[in-house]
Amino acid sequence: MGELLPFDEGDTFTFADLGTGTGAAARTVLELYPRSTAILADLSPRMMVGGAAQMQPFAGRFEYVTFDMQAAEWPNAIPMVLDAVVTSMCIHHLPDHRKRGLFAEIFERLVPGGWYVNYDSVSAVDPVVEAAWARASDRLETPTARDVHPRTALEQASHEDHVRHMAPLARQLEYLRLAGFDGIDVYWKRLDDVILAGRRPS
Ligand SMILES: C[S@@+](CC[C@H](N)C(=O)[O-])C[C@H]1O[C@@H](n2cnc3c(N)ncnc32)[C@H](O)[C@@H]1O
Repeated sequence: MGELLPFDEGDTFTFADLGTGTGAAARTVLELYPRSTAILADLSPRMMVGGAAQMQPFAGRFEYVTFDMQAAEWPNAIPMVLDAVVTSMCIHHLPDHRKRGLFAEIFERLVPGGWYVNYDSVSAVDPVVEAAWARASDRLETPTARDVHPRTALEQASHEDHVRHMAPLARQLEYLRLAGFDGIDVYWKRLDDVILAGRRPS
């Protein structure tokens, strides 16, 4: 995700990582570009506190902001103008109308030429594709305890909540196009995991 951004190593810029969790995506950008600064936004202060130790090497280069992406109102603490925005494994928590709304709001905040890069899982529209993804995943990944033992009722509810709003790739590419982005592409893909990105035209 960081490599897709149009910056040189020495560039100074500010980016937002929305739904940042413990800051995994932001750290990759902060590491690649030592003069960048990050706005780390999440609904859950607990997730952000959980990332404090991992974020410690970047002290002074990031700021936490509480932000509910379900709301169209962005907090004042997020700058009106951002050089780039990244999201990682969180857009699938939003219903489709908010995916579309958020992409448009990100577009409005980006400087001309600014990029939005989104890493997330997508749903399949074709059951044959879905079965192929599942087959390959089963073969590629080391079985976890969850795979060996069936989910408990609570785990199943949590899983269903996780996948409820997952949307097909084509629909999300269309939301980017409708927001006004150019340079839209699936820049990376592995089964159901994708990196989508687009640029606010210069
Ligand atoms: C699976 S975690 C991913 C965290 C991080 N981006 C990463 O890649 O490791 C999903 C994150 O999205 C956040 N999230 C879910 N719904 C949200 C919302 N409506 N507004 C802001 N953050 C939200 C959760 O709190 C959580 O931190």
